[in-house]
Amino acid sequence: MAEVRETMSANGRGSIPLLSPYKMANFNLSHRIVLAPLTRCRSYGNMPQPHAAVYYSQRTTNDGLLISEATIVSETGLGYPESPGIWTKEQVEAWKPVVEAVHNRGGIFFCQIWHAGRASNSELQPNAEAPISCTDKGITTSADGFWSPPRQLRTDEIPLIVNDFRLAARNSMEAGFDGVEIHAANGYLIEQFMKDGVNDRTDEYGGSLENRCRFALEIVEAVAKEIGSDRIGIRLSPFADQLECSDSNPEALAIYMANALNKYNIVYLHAVEPRTLRSGESCKTSYSLLPMREAFKGAFMVAGGCDRAEGKTVIAEKKADLVAFGRLFLANPDLPKRFELDAPLNRYDRSTFYTLDPVVGYTDYPFLEYVPAN
Ligand code: PHB
Repeated sequence: MAEVRETMSANGRGSIPLLSPYKMANFNLSHRIVLAPLTRCRSYGNMPQPHAAVYYSQRTTNDGLLISEATIVSETGLGYPESPGIWTKEQVEAWKPVVEAVHNRGGIFFCQIWHAGRASNSELQPNAEAPISCTDKGITTSADGFWSPPRQLRTDEIPLIVNDFRLAARNSMEAGFDGVEIHAANGYLIEQFMKDGVNDRTDEYGGSLENRCRFALEIVEAVAKEIGSDRIGIRLSPFADQLECSDSNPEALAIYMANALNKYNIVYLHAVEPRTLRSGESCKTSYSLLPMREAFKGAFMVAGGCDRAEGKTVIAEKKADLVAFGRLFLANPDLPKRFELDAPLNRYDRSTFYTLDPVVGYTDYPFLEYVPAN
């Protein structure tokens, strides 16, 4: 692919906080607008496809940061069909042109490595077995998917899963990614361990906060040893309760993890800021990520449905260093440019978020040039 580096015009940069440069460890980012990890269900048979190269490169800016969709670390990690994996040689080979397409446009690309844990169904599991988790308690509501009762991992099986994350990180490097984001949020396996609303273990991986966070931190340590701490980010959502994964003391969990992560000197902490809880109760104003931001020494990224104005405030008030945009970036491949110009945005179409089409709702959102002036 031809080397095409998009550079935003200097016009306005600096005056718009989101468009100011930021040094994130060894990465010199040209702006603060990050592509959030977004599941798109277009990796047929768990293989990244050529259309993903088009999709990600469309959203690439020179020295802009992109985080891949959640990418499965092992056969048991699958939670939704047609999500990409990174545990086989073939998957690594299939990722290579996708990563290359981003690099050709000067982007910085982290692979989000993921295990769904109990947020899965036996039909998606090898030999139709039960999904694995820290617990054998299943998800009771079916609003977000069809869940099978999980099987609680034995203590001696846990190092094998840690190792799967380590290998996935090694494979990510082999595929050419610049780093990995460990998905420890949103009710999936790592968070199932972290939160006392789910974790009912009686071994050294359950009970105290320290014990519940052990699995996450063992993964961070193993991945750091494998690829270096300067290539690691982590995503956490202590205040959310997605997939019935909640904690009785999210503030303590947030601070404990921020402090524990400081010891590993990782690149960034990516915190999900939920707007509502499952009950429908709004939590934007009642919970704050600020203490976690203050405790964490590396770059702090937030995600949670910010628009341009909120993103601007977050950066201007130093509540975060970076802002990840999901739905807006999905629907606006040139989102940084639109923010720079304060241009109108394409609306996202929720009905095509997870369809299999390689173009519709995926790579056919128009760039600014094609948006009629109003
Ligand atoms: C999420 O982090 O909420 C998430 C991850 C993977 C999916 C869907 C949602 O496939």
